[in-house]
Formats: sequence, C-alpha cells, structure tokens
Amino acid sequence: MEILLKQAANLLDDRDLLAALGNFSALIFYEVEDLNWVGFYRLKNDELVLGPFNGKVACSHLSLKSGVCALSVKKEEVVNVKNVHDFKGHIACDTNSQSELVLPLYQNKKLWGVLDIDSPKLDRFKSEEVALFKKLQILLNERLTQAVFVKEVHDLHDFQSMI
Ligand code: SME
Repeated sequence: MEILLKQAANLLDDRDLLAALGNFSALIFYEVEDLNWVGFYRLKNDELVLGPFNGKVACSHLSLKSGVCALSVKKEEVVNVKNVHDFKGHIACDTNSQSELVLPLYQNKKLWGVLDIDSPKLDRFKSEEVALFKKLQILLNERLTQAVFVKEVHDLHDFQSMI
C-alpha cells in the first residue's frame, strides 16, 4: 500500500494536470486487483463530464439526476456500492461491473468532480481498500489545488510577457 501511495504521489507530481490524472488512473487500474474501470468525472455546468480513465469506453456525460457518481456529488461523500444491481438508478457503462466506489474530489475546497472505481467482483471495496482510496483522495485534492496555483503562475507569466 505504501509503495502504491508513493508511486501515485510521484505520478501526480507531473506539471501537467491531464498527464498526471491519466497516469494516476492507469496506475490504479493495473496495480489494484479486480478493477474493470478507474477514472475521473469533472463537475461542469450541472453535469459530470468524463476525464482521464482506464477501462472500457464510458458515458461522456452523466446527469446529476441518477447514478452513483451523482449521489457522491450531491452528498459530497464517499459512496461504496457493494452490489450495483441493488442500487436504483445505477448507470452501467460496463456490464461487468458488480461493485463501485466513488470519491468526491476538491480543488481549493470547492467540489471539482469524482474519482470513480468499478469492480467485476461483488463487495470489492472492504475497509482496507476504502482507507487506501481515501489516502489517494487526499493526494488528488492536493494536486488539483496545486493546479490552480500553477495556472495562476502561468497566467502571470503570460501577462508579464505581454507588457
Ligand atoms: N456507474 C456510474 C457511471 C459511470 S461508469 O461506472 C464509468 C454511475 O452510476 O454513476
């Protein structure tokens, strides 16, 4: 678990946010057992828009009216669904999914979107995995917040080059 956290922190250290999130999703997808989809949805104009991910082709846009990701956004809580077939309104992008974990993500304490993780196994996310993903959630929040700072520095640089 410690090695994975270190690898995640190193990959998230990339100066480009998209590159960082793309590699992060690949790391989790290939290093954590029994997952069939790992990726990001970004909250944009009252919907969730697909971000970097690993796994099968997924819905590009999710409404906030139904689904596990929408619930996590509305409640601003980690949502752990042990059996997606028991979740009314579950959106099945990959029919292999049996359980799902969704974590809300923040940029400067403002809701940014979610990290969505699907498993082909029922009740895949036990307390150990949830603890791991909560640590990764903290790293992601830090990286997303840092992105604002990096953008501000770039904007300032662009501005300075114009004067
Ligand atoms: N199952 C999600 C939709 C996204 S896919 O799993 C990638 C949901 O119910 O919100």
